[in-house]
Amino acid sequence: MVNLDVAKKWIKTGIDPSAMSPNSIKEIEINSEIVGYAKKNNDNKIIVFQNKCSHMGDPLRISNQKIICPTHGWTYTTDGENVNICELGLRRLDSKTEQNELFIEIPTKPLNLTKGHPSHPL
Ligand code: FES
Repeated sequence: MVNLDVAKKWIKTGIDPSAMSPNSIKEIEINSEIVGYAKKNNDNKIIVFQNKCSHMGDPLRISNQKIICPTHGWTYTTDGENVNICELGLRRLDSKTEQNELFIEIPTKPLNLTKGHPSHPL
């Protein structure tokens, strides 16, 4: 039987989840690129999202406790839910914490972007 955890390519983020406040979000920067966002929920669990808009894959930014795509304005909650089109939330990344360090896995499969997506909210 294959140990799926060993088969994953875990990447160090430099983030110590124990230093994050509950209900906070942090950019995950690797090699000078923001690849994702780590959110610490009120129950102290960490969830991680890829920094790619579900519309066309463009990079996002955090503004006023929302995650916003500057390209066409799609907006996501810090839980990764799409405010405009609920079924098109942000892609979650696998993560784990070891010795106060957050590790993530960057998927090798491309993001399944919207094709023939619903009409634009703006
Ligand atoms: S690429 Fe993000 S809203 Fe269009």
